[in-house]
Amino acid sequence: MSFELPDELKFITNSKLPQKRSYESMEGKICVISGATSGVGYESAISLAREGAEIVMLVRNAEKAKKVCENIKEVSGKVTRYFLADFCKLSEVRSAVNEILEAYPKIDVLINSVGIHNTTRRLTEDGYEMVFYVNHLSNFLVTKMMLPRMIESSPSRIIYVNSEGHRFGGLNFNDLNWEKRMYIGLAGYGAAKTAQLLTMMEFNKQLEGTGVTINAMHPGAVRTNIGNNNGWLYRFWLQKILWPSMKEPHIAGEAIYYLASSPDLEKVSGKFFNLTIEETPATHARDKVAAQHIYKISNDIISE
Ligand SMILES: NC(=O)c1ccc[n+]([C@@H]2O[C@H](COP(=O)([O-])OP(=O)(O)OC[C@H]3O[C@@H](n4cnc5c(N)ncnc54)[C@H](OP(=O)(O)O)[C@@H]3O)[C@@H](O)[C@H]2O)c1
Repeated sequence: MSFELPDELKFITNSKLPQKRSYESMEGKICVISGATSGVGYESAISLAREGAEIVMLVRNAEKAKKVCENIKEVSGKVTRYFLADFCKLSEVRSAVNEILEAYPKIDVLINSVGIHNTTRRLTEDGYEMVFYVNHLSNFLVTKMMLPRMIESSPSRIIYVNSEGHRFGGLNFNDLNWEKRMYIGLAGYGAAKTAQLLTMMEFNKQLEGTGVTINAMHPGAVRTNIGNNNGWLYRFWLQKILWPSMKEPHIAGEAIYYLASSPDLEKVSGKFFNLTIEETPATHARDKVAAQHIYKISNDIISE
């Protein structure tokens, strides 16, 4: 007798399925990638550049960015530009995106990969819980500002590097800033990723009929730098216990290459993928009323 998991639990087995591949050329395509200095963003940049894409990086560290430019030149011969913004500051994100919009009349792919995981509650300069701000609000601002250009450039694609961590939940409309609850790192992370998935649903509605697709993905449990900003005990656990069981980050780059280029996904939008396998997100991340609510709150904050 065979037993089938309910849709919402399929994430347990999906990551073990054979992944899909795309052999489509990216020659002539402009791909804006945030967080391209490390991990998933970096691997995406290398995969896409190798197949001909021109990479535009939205990153915070000029030294790391220069090194990535050299690596991309080595694998593709292409010149890469970078724009600087600390995602803890919406003002910097806004300026950098404006510079990108001025420089690039056409953008084919936007990949939002910036993300952090904090084990303790930390605040940005303007008093917001940092994980919500960096993982959700700043990426929301980037997407919102890029929408008109993505529509002008259509067919084009937006990809959120989200996470299975959205299943931890944690989004509480009465306490978005974690002032009334004890901060739990995984729940803070889950809240931000849930907010991202819910607002993706709203962006998807706005994009209907435009030829622009917007999707989110979990990049696998891959060995990257995420979490390394935390205390020694967490870093010890991450590096000694977690890392040995995690996969190499190039699998995330290959999955994003597929999502960004495959003709199979030309018209697929508003979906969540576990690497390249379409998957049903948690119920709380599909709540239409919550989606409208968090979209409005996020839009109000970025418009302040
Ligand atoms: N690794 C996994 O197993 C996993 C699983 C699920 C989801 N994800 C998601 O994958 C995405 C990428 O993470 P990763 O695993 O590749 O981690 P990573 O290696 O730490 O890369 C994170 C990227 O975000 C950038 N970043 C962090 N804080 C920033 C800030 N304040 N302003 C601007 N850029 C900032 C980092 O810049 P620097 O290089 O300057 O530090 C880096 O480029 C995240 O959204 C994460 O939630 C990862």
